[in-house]
Amino acid sequence: MARPKTVNVAMIGQGFMGRTHSNAWNQVAKFFDVPLHPVMHTCFGQPGENPPAFAANWGWARASTNWRKTVKDPAIDLVDVATPNFMHAPVAKAAIAAGKPVFCEKPIAGTLKDAREMVAAAKKAKVKTFVGFNYRRCPAVALAHKLVKAGRIGKIRHVRALYLQDWADESVPLAWRFDKKLAGSGAHGDLNAHIVDMTRFVTGEEVTEICGAIAETFIKQRSIMSGTVAGGIATGLKASRKKGKVTVDDTVLFLARFSGGAVASFEGARQATGNQNRNGFEINGTKGAIKFDFERMNELEYYDATADRAVQGWTTIMATHAGDHPYVDAWWPDAHGLGYEHGFINQAYVILRVLAGKKPIVPIPDFADAYMPQRVLEASLLSAKKKKWIKVASVK
Ligand SMILES: NC(=O)c1ccc[n+]([C@@H]2O[C@H](COP(=O)([O-])OP(=O)(O)OC[C@H]3O[C@@H](n4cnc5c(N)ncnc54)[C@H](O)[C@@H]3O)[C@@H](O)[C@H]2O)c1
Repeated sequence: MARPKTVNVAMIGQGFMGRTHSNAWNQVAKFFDVPLHPVMHTCFGQPGENPPAFAANWGWARASTNWRKTVKDPAIDLVDVATPNFMHAPVAKAAIAAGKPVFCEKPIAGTLKDAREMVAAAKKAKVKTFVGFNYRRCPAVALAHKLVKAGRIGKIRHVRALYLQDWADESVPLAWRFDKKLAGSGAHGDLNAHIVDMTRFVTGEEVTEICGAIAETFIKQRSIMSGTVAGGIATGLKASRKKGKVTVDDTVLFLARFSGGAVASFEGARQATGNQNRNGFEINGTKGAIKFDFERMNELEYYDATADRAVQGWTTIMATHAGDHPYVDAWWPDAHGLGYEHGFINQAYVILRVLAGKKPIVPIPDFADAYMPQRVLEASLLSAKKKKWIKVASVK
């Protein structure tokens, strides 16, 4: 048998996303018939995070504490960026300068300027790039995209999108997510980035105009983190007694118009008590409607308004049928649901397909595509600041 072609991956960052990506690179070839085999070559972490222990636990062959050296290593074929947002541009640009394809976590960057430079660098170097809008990889969301594309809900009139969490009360210290210099924004770049991407993916339309945006920071000061560099929400946060200023939003809401004429509302929040990871949308069209809530990630709600009036009503589709529902054929027998980590494994498969010159299962954003939601985020912050309508086209 011919030896499979391989891709040597270097991953930069070993926090929450470092763990989901490591798991994905570990699992993908076990479940999918991959056109290229990922080799977990090197992972980078800050010295205080004990990179060798992380590497040994997750199956990386080498551990590094020098990301600049790692991304330039001639042995590396793909750089996977899983750092806080302010590091996306420096790591991605260094990798691109060394001619490497880059897979970067979302949002593409903390600032529009960084994002623009990443897009320009990738275009100039003609390298393949990917941005980790992982919710596109949930079978139910990919099914929603296919139903809309097939015209099953007709012309879209309303888009309602929410990404609500409730983890950020006063007890949570001043992690990088609350610092504008490191994160760019708060719930906006963290959560609204996902729902802007997800709704443009499902509708196939772009946000063109924004108004009525509100950006609010309820908790203005938080305890400064003590000691640890591994200060991610998934790795434990330790507070000291000293307080520091929060420089990002806790919530951003805005109204919008889509290119096909639909009107939309978006809401991202970290203190929406009772909602732990309610990432979802409801989209109403002339022939039907669809609804998704990540807290019930295996299900898509579908309303067929063309059905006989006597039987019209919401149908709960379990998006777990091989063949009918994207990605499911790689997994368990029908109706044995998937979880959070599967989206990342599905995403790793799509990246390997595109690197091998094959089509993705459903589209994956590259840097140029992921620049679009970044412009929407920027336009809504401008709308909040100026209290007026902002055209996305005016935000370059
Ligand atoms: N796709 C998703 O649903 C999703 C979910 C969570 C986070 N994210 C994104 O993933 C990225 C990382 O988030 P996370 O939750 O994994 O964060 P985290 O805090 O858990 O981990 C960040 C990692 O980056 C490293 N790091 C921090 N500062 C650094 C610096 N100055 N230089 C080099 N490395 C540094 C940390 O040591 C750690 O290894 C962010 O861009 C975030 O928006 C995406």
